[in-house]
Amino acid sequence: MFIDTHCHLSKDDYEDIDKVINNAKNEKVEYLIISGCDKKSIKESIEISNKYPNVYLALGYHPSETKITKNEDLIELENIIKNNNKVVAVGEIGLDYHWDKDNKEEQIMLFKKQIDIAKRLNLPIVIHSRDAFQDTYDILKEANYKGVIHCFSGNLENAKKYLSLGFYLGIGGVITFKNTNLKETIKEIPLDKILLETDSPYLAPTPYRGEQNEPKYIPIIANEIAKNKGIKIEELEQETTNNAKKLFNIIIS
Ligand code: NI
Repeated sequence: MFIDTHCHLSKDDYEDIDKVINNAKNEKVEYLIISGCDKKSIKESIEISNKYPNVYLALGYHPSETKITKNEDLIELENIIKNNNKVVAVGEIGLDYHWDKDNKEEQIMLFKKQIDIAKRLNLPIVIHSRDAFQDTYDILKEANYKGVIHCFSGNLENAKKYLSLGFYLGIGGVITFKNTNLKETIKEIPLDKILLETDSPYLAPTPYRGEQNEPKYIPIIANEIAKNKGIKIEELEQETTNNAKKLFNIIIS
């Protein structure tokens, strides 16, 4: 059994959510953690999780929401999370200097406030970091907390620094791309720190690159990681599922 620890499901992207979830199950991807990271997707993700017992939630405001996110939104977010036992993480939260460079201070503030929410609720954090390694690292070091670096695609040096903070690394379709150093880096990432994710509908793995991604492609990612680490896919499957259960405190009987 696999867990897709990070994906986005929305009717805007998928005509038939039932089908997406069934497709995943048919490939042994039995649990999904979907991320609601703006007002609209937070609401929609909650609705989906209410309908499907095997769908859990990560909720939080993405850095691209910085300009429109108010303090009252954060108070509401905390209340929503507190009263919903399907929420297993706060995220994706973090810093994105690729799209927005002119509001770094505000992004940092929103990031830190949401780390505080996670700490108060004792939930792990799911980190989005793009072109912002140093600031992300400094904030996480200071926070001294637990979580995962979502869609990790960086080099070995960054991997080691995140690992030194105790963070898990979320590995997705990028590992299957031709020109990525992640194939090398993954060899140095301990098995007990790897989480599998698709980030659907984005970042579909090869040979579906450029198409719409789906949680059902998790085994393709798992296979590529196992191949590069020289281990059996069954071992990777079991270890990464255990990692996800442990970090997100998911109890599956
Ligand atoms: Ni995402």
